[in-house]
Amino acid sequence: MRILVTGGAGYIGSHTLVELLAAGHEAHVVDTFANSSPEALARVRQLANRDFGFTRADIRDGEAMARVARDFAPEAVAHFAGLKAVGESVGKPLAYFDVNVGGTVALLQALQAEGCRRFVFSSSATVYGDPDYLPIDEAHPRRTTNPYGRTKLQIEGILEDLAVADPAWSIALLRYFNPVGAHASGRIGEDPEGIPNNLMPYVTQVATGRRERLIVHGDDYDTPDGTGVRDFIHVVDLARAHVAAAEWTGRGAGCEAFNLGTGRGASVLELVAAFRAASGQAIPVTVGPRRAGDIAASWADPARAARVLGWRAELGVAEMCASAWGWAARNPAGYAGPERNPD
Ligand code: NAD
Ligand code: UFG
Repeated sequence: MRILVTGGAGYIGSHTLVELLAAGHEAHVVDTFANSSPEALARVRQLANRDFGFTRADIRDGEAMARVARDFAPEAVAHFAGLKAVGESVGKPLAYFDVNVGGTVALLQALQAEGCRRFVFSSSATVYGDPDYLPIDEAHPRRTTNPYGRTKLQIEGILEDLAVADPAWSIALLRYFNPVGAHASGRIGEDPEGIPNNLMPYVTQVATGRRERLIVHGDDYDTPDGTGVRDFIHVVDLARAHVAAAEWTGRGAGCEAFNLGTGRGASVLELVAAFRAASGQAIPVTVGPRRAGDIAASWADPARAARVLGWRAELGVAEMCASAWGWAARNPAGYAGPERNPD
């Protein structure tokens, strides 16, 4: 099928492109490279050994989106493009509402005009806030504490309203838990700008010597070792879930939510131990205070995705750490630096 991939040069989008192309789908990417590099797309082409279309355009540009929708005539869309830094969203809420909410509305208007009504949206477990119970299923109440999370809630609401207004829409809301890891080749991976906010990219930068030590944000949570517990999910598993969801939009109807996680939690210290084992690197850690806004524990009940999409996560924390290290060792400066070729 023909799939339009917004934000396809980004971390999750680039891995999804590889899996979509491997599954025989035809793809067209829209990206501004606001938080990514053209090099990611070049490497996807090499890895997949297949070409795909690309338009450098902003999802907020309704005319550009209409042109892409007309020329490529997608049967389905995987919508990754957007801003994603929780802390930044607190200082710049209007930018987040503009890009995430405004951009999604502009994209949907273009798709509606061109008759494409199959949509896969990158939502987040952040829509569950501090969970009332574990594991978290899709019926868990939705709430949020920051502007980034509010954009995800608002977009979910817009998509639900759209499916009510026009039953021809078939929409999958994919609520990601904690995506980590990289493609097994080590050629594409997560490449954040500046100091990483998230655990795994911080750990890999300690491993490559870019940072001295990991600060563990609190070890006095009500968890087995006192550190935060998350449902880390391998980005390649996540990418494959998008293939399953895009295919499901051809069978399904309405707007349906799916948790994408493994169903198992791992603590910060467990992840660090697994990374040490996978990489052979020391990873010094210091325990610091809790980080504002953090929750103690979060993990998914992923049964619905298994039942309806026929997808389940297959890769564990060892593979997540080995692949994250494979990417970092080969690309210690991310896409901006030279690629080391250990082969
Ligand atoms: P990313 O920043 O690596 O990818 C986003 C891509 O969108 C980038 O290539 C960026 O250049 C592009 N982009 C940004 N603004 C754009 C615009 N206005 N027009 C066109 N392109 C634009 O992020 P990611 O980690 O791959 O996340 C992808 C999606 O998944 C996001 O919507 C994010 O909110 C969501 N998500 C991510 C995580 C995570 O932990 N990475 C967790 C839950 C949900
Ligand atoms: N952590 C550290 N040190 C660090 C970074 C993180 O100890 O340098 C800890 C955190 O305190 C937390 C765990 O590692 O206990 C995971 O933190 P991340 O920042 O990697 O992930 P979060 O679960 O906090 O946040 C992620 C996404 C958000 C999303 C949220 C809820 O980054 O975008 O999940 O879905 F909103």
